[in-house]
Amino acid sequence: MAQCLKATAETIGRAGAAIREGRLVAFPTETVYGLGADATDDQAVASIFEAKGRPRFNPLIVHVANLQEAEKHCVFNAEAERLARRFWPGGLTLVLPRREDTALSLLVSAGLDTVAVRVPAHETARALIEAAKRPLAAPSANPSGKVSPTRAAHVMEGLGAAPQLAFVLDGGACPLGLESTVIGFPQGIPTLLRPGAVARDEIEAVLGRPLADANAASGEEGRASPGQLESHYAPGSPIRLDATEVAEDEVLLAFGPDAPKAKTSMNLSASGDLTEAAANLFAMLRALDADAGGGRIAVMPIPMTGLGEAINDRLKRAAAPRA
Ligand code: TXA
Ligand code: MG
Repeated sequence: MAQCLKATAETIGRAGAAIREGRLVAFPTETVYGLGADATDDQAVASIFEAKGRPRFNPLIVHVANLQEAEKHCVFNAEAERLARRFWPGGLTLVLPRREDTALSLLVSAGLDTVAVRVPAHETARALIEAAKRPLAAPSANPSGKVSPTRAAHVMEGLGAAPQLAFVLDGGACPLGLESTVIGFPQGIPTLLRPGAVARDEIEAVLGRPLADANAASGEEGRASPGQLESHYAPGSPIRLDATEVAEDEVLLAFGPDAPKAKTSMNLSASGDLTEAAANLFAMLRALDADAGGGRIAVMPIPMTGLGEAINDRLKRAAAPRA
């Protein structure tokens, strides 16, 4: 079993050493918990895929300390730099061309000529990058296809037994609770590859133009992030979306003040606050899944404004037919 340790200067130091030895460390970020490895070590990066049981190699996000570090690995255009200056550290990932002289493992790009980079804001994530003295490749710390972890206990539940995982650093609940927004630049056009913790309109306000949609863009590069499988973020119980009433055998994931009556229910945000709803989403899906007892999870409609776009994206994938 991996050791689950409260994040302190001492435990982060030990975790940094484990990273340099090629082992995996799960750590909190402001979005979700990440499963981290030395991004310059092919073996270590390969062991991420092994631990998660990923069906194939999806490209991974590389976490670095600041923009200057990011520039060692990829080539920024003017718009990417503007977004980095505004949103880093924070929940935004930029997909950019790899620099020829980068020390990053080719496996983090999974055969593409781009690399996804992000500067996390969470204190523990930042301290771990510093202690490891390496860029950290880190997908969400859940078995492939399952709900992303927003608490250390979720990581232990899903990956605690993975032999590659040395430590889980416990830094409490992730404040944003949704994965980062992923932006790429196919044919130089800023494109939303994955909606996430930073809302589309905030990004468009900085760019002064609308973001293109991944699936509308043409060619390989324009496809939605390769990691965006249809069925994803899936709890064990079936999910029914846009529910306005609740059946006998259903538990309810509610939103807003007008929730229908149900035997078992949790409310993402009784006041209808989408930021609060994002932070609660994955933890409540897990809790309701445990209570569903073979029944379904009915989910009330969530508006598409602001973070609602990312919340609806995750719910749609959680509800998609399983492979
Ligand atoms: O908030 C987050 O982003 C979390 C924390 C740990 O940082 N990480 C995360 O990683 O969600 P993961 O592996 O679960 O999702 C990474 C996403 C996938 O959709 C993947 O396809 C996309 O980023 N991605 C990574 N590299 C890419 C690339 N070179 N081109 C296109 N998409 C890429
Ligand atoms: Mg993930």
